[in-house]
Amino acid sequence: MAPTPETLQLRLDAALAERDQYRRECESFRNDLEHLHNELELRDSALAATTAHFLVADMRRQGWPIVYVNRAIAADHGYEPRELLGKSAVFLNPPELNAEALKELNQGMRQGNTVRTQVLSQRKDGSTFWAGITLSPIRDGEGHITHYLGIGTDITARLKEQERARELQARLTAEMQERERIAIELRVAQKLESVGRLAAGIAHEINTPIQYIGDSVLFLQSAFDELEKARAEADLEFLSSEIPKAFERTLEGVQRVAGIVRAMKEFAHPGQIEQSAADLNHAIETTLIVARNEYKYTAQVETHLGALPDVICNVGELNQVLLNLIVNAAHAIRESGKDASTGRIGITTERARDQVLIRVSDNGCGIPKENIDKIFDPFFTTKEVGRGTGQGLAIARSIVIDKHCGRIEVQSERGVGTSFILSLPIGGCGSIRAAA
Ligand SMILES: Nc1ncnc2c1ncn2[C@@H]1O[C@H](COP(=O)(O)OP(=O)(O)O)[C@@H](O)[C@H]1O
Ligand SMILES: [Mg+2]
Repeated sequence: MAPTPETLQLRLDAALAERDQYRRECESFRNDLEHLHNELELRDSALAATTAHFLVADMRRQGWPIVYVNRAIAADHGYEPRELLGKSAVFLNPPELNAEALKELNQGMRQGNTVRTQVLSQRKDGSTFWAGITLSPIRDGEGHITHYLGIGTDITARLKEQERARELQARLTAEMQERERIAIELRVAQKLESVGRLAAGIAHEINTPIQYIGDSVLFLQSAFDELEKARAEADLEFLSSEIPKAFERTLEGVQRVAGIVRAMKEFAHPGQIEQSAADLNHAIETTLIVARNEYKYTAQVETHLGALPDVICNVGELNQVLLNLIVNAAHAIRESGKDASTGRIGITTERARDQVLIRVSDNGCGIPKENIDKIFDPFFTTKEVGRGTGQGLAIARSIVIDKHCGRIEVQSERGVGTSFILSLPIGGCGSIRAAA
């Protein structure tokens, strides 16, 4: 039976409807495709515009061939993008230049990790540069790795910069060590200078007692001769009054020489590096003995030494500080035109809780206001060459503050005088740190 016109009409309508449906779907596919295309194009231009290197390698094929490179990676290696497609993933980083890095990369990639490293990249002309690269796996819907994405940049400049920074750092360290070495040398030089200066003074100090020891011994000798020669008519009365005096003078002279030598030994404290308990009043007396020749023509020294506990310190270094302050005081008094009849150096000590205070004052020329901030600077001096090195107070400050955790203060009035006040923690630096 032939279909009726009605059925035919119905079939035609259905076919038309189906066609319209396909058309719409087609339209929608086309739209989707265009959309996708635009999106891809956008990504492609973005990848082409960036200076970072992009490379995609196919991990499913033998030799992991390159399936995508952006313009930057090709251009930086001197290639056209299409020249690189299909080449092995290691084409740009030859294994002979990158043995270590490739081993690391291979291992990471086989385990499916993201790996970062530095590789030596080779251009078409054979020249090389350093690249920092990150390789990340790309997985399919089931989680299998299909591709690896490599992102990299030329880090030659950065490496150079780092190298430069390292060099600068090394130079800085070397310079600091050199400065430290010079500071130590200066300190040693200053100590030698003061020992030299003191040695001359001490020779002078010893000269007087030695002279009257000699005179007395000569006298005793001739007295003995006289006794021998003319026992009867000898001036026994004169001899019996003078001989004991000569013995006394000799003994006193010997004691003075012994005292000076002992003080000199104590002052120098050779080789003492560690800090230990010391009697600072005794240190002051010792320093005054060895420095006597420095001040005795300029000033009288008045000491008021209070009761002090022993202080943890390097007493050899503190002797050096005291010597510097006393010599400075004597110089200032001479500068003001005074002499031993009017010049005064006062030294007082006292305990103030956990500190010991030492004050060294003088009635010398004083320090002008504009200099007061500079006197502790290394090389600052107002004295003529040969008399001042400008190191005394710089060293004093470093010893008191850096080595003993103490303080050093100065009060001065021009034409009236100057006082330096040292405060030292009785327990040394250790006690300060323990309290902090
Ligand atoms: N007691 C003082 N009275 C006046 N001026 C002083 C006194 N102590 C230090 N000064 C000043 O501080 C300067 C620096 O002292 P110092 O560092 O010991 O170096 P130097 O004694 O070699 O000059 C001195 O040149 C002087 O001008
Ligand atoms: Mg000085």
